[in-house]
Amino acid sequence: MAWEFRKLGPGENVAVETQRDPFAAPKWAPPVWHMPEGLVLIVNAVRFLVRALVFLVRNIVPVSIAAGLGWLGYRFGWTVPVLVLALVAVVLGTWAAVDRPSFAGWVARPVRSWWRLVFIYRRDWQPVLVTAGLTKVHKGREYLPSLVRVRCGPTSDRVLVRMLKGQAPDAWEAVAVNLAHGFGASLVRVRNGDRPGRIWLEFVRRDALAEPIPALPVPNASDVDLSGLPVGRAEDGSPWRLRLLGTHVLIAGATGAGKGSVIWSTIRALLPLLLGGLVEVWAVDPKRMELSFGRALFERYGRYSDDPKGGMVDLLEAAAEDMNARAERFAGHTRSFTPSREFPFRVIVVDELAFLTAYCPERDLRKRAESALAVLTTQGRSVGYCVIGAQQDARKEVNNLRNLFPDRIALRLDEDDQVDMVLGDGARDRGALADQISSVPEVGAGVGFVRLETSPDPVRVRAAFVSDADIRAMVAYGLPDLDIEGAA
Ligand SMILES: Nc1ncnc2c1ncn2[C@@H]1O[C@H](COP(=O)(O)OP(=O)(O)OP(=O)(O)O)[C@@H](O)[C@H]1O
Ligand SMILES: [Mg+2]
Repeated sequence: MAWEFRKLGPGENVAVETQRDPFAAPKWAPPVWHMPEGLVLIVNAVRFLVRALVFLVRNIVPVSIAAGLGWLGYRFGWTVPVLVLALVAVVLGTWAAVDRPSFAGWVARPVRSWWRLVFIYRRDWQPVLVTAGLTKVHKGREYLPSLVRVRCGPTSDRVLVRMLKGQAPDAWEAVAVNLAHGFGASLVRVRNGDRPGRIWLEFVRRDALAEPIPALPVPNASDVDLSGLPVGRAEDGSPWRLRLLGTHVLIAGATGAGKGSVIWSTIRALLPLLLGGLVEVWAVDPKRMELSFGRALFERYGRYSDDPKGGMVDLLEAAAEDMNARAERFAGHTRSFTPSREFPFRVIVVDELAFLTAYCPERDLRKRAESALAVLTTQGRSVGYCVIGAQQDARKEVNNLRNLFPDRIALRLDEDDQVDMVLGDGARDRGALADQISSVPEVGAGVGFVRLETSPDPVRVRAAFVSDADIRAMVAYGLPDLDIEGAA
């Protein structure tokens, strides 16, 4: 192959491959244009100015402060800005000491967010996104998703991102681990943004739920809200509220996952109404372990050893029967349920649900239990019945009643595919890593994921730990001759 340069015009050369075959069709190459040097300089100068302007606008507050201090120093000598800075430090220090929450909201958090935006997220944005494959190159130009805003919380940062047009959150979920390592976080979750095309990335820096939460205080009767009983804490520090009114709750978790603490925290939050007769707990305890301890608190209690004649199943059938009678009575009168002494709100707690529906050796009892549970869960919601079921195994064959529980809690699970079985499709991709919760009780027991009504994104929560002593105190609470203050 041979090459030669041909002159097209002044300053324009083209390299053209010379053909060996003189009769071959000619090949054309585009001419090379040479930009005049002056123009190159002007374009670069304009680019520099635009970048400087963008920097100034983006960092207007710190730049103005630095410029103001510089001007003071230049005009009145350098002791003046030093004094101003000292005065500001004293004012801020006093503010922080007097009213910490407002100081955090107005000063500490915005400053921290700005700092992390500039020195962590913006600095590493391009290299991390390129390595993670979230940028696109089209016709030689690189398109980079943009960083809109950073909000720092006590244990995590939320970063608002404008995705590339045509990109979907799945692309970000698929590389969440790359992003976490890239920005030095322990975990990243992808959340829906404030409008289509934008997402929030939640960078978890520290586990806010690593420490056990002691049992929550027993509320006053007037504060008990059956549509949101406080049973623990969510990752953002807000209370985890569990709804019982108008729903049923399934708690799934491997052995030692802390199902007992969710059940007991719920009973604890109900305690004043329980004692007042407005709420009843009927407990089914196949293992005779979890609930026998607080037996005195339950209106009815069924356990396996009562069972030659089907004690536990009798209890469920009695509940289903009473529920039917209630439905009959309420029909045409009222559609919303308010608990009263005549018609208390009834919570049917079933520990180890799978025992009744799958493992129980007597087939007949299994069938009866299953149909009583199906009746309670399908029809009980509007007449003041709520079933709370706990079970270790989330597999479909073990519990085909699972879909009858509108609210589900995934504590630590053994396998990753169980997460979506409990919380619904896509929950694990949206960050419900229930299979990765620590099996060390102090760190991971009672930790789990829930889906709240307001959002499809799973929320990480931890139930408060109700110890044996707390349960003893709760039982004592109900006995009139005991000192209630002391028992609490
Ligand atoms: N919320 C919690 N915070 C801290 N520790 C907890 C919490 N819940 C439970 N634990 C600890 O974990 C242990 C196991 O909890 P629990 O008995 O509730 O598990 P489980 O899910 O009911 O297991 P199983 O299915 O075997 O009955 C408890 O003995 C307790 O020490
Ligand atoms: Mg248990």
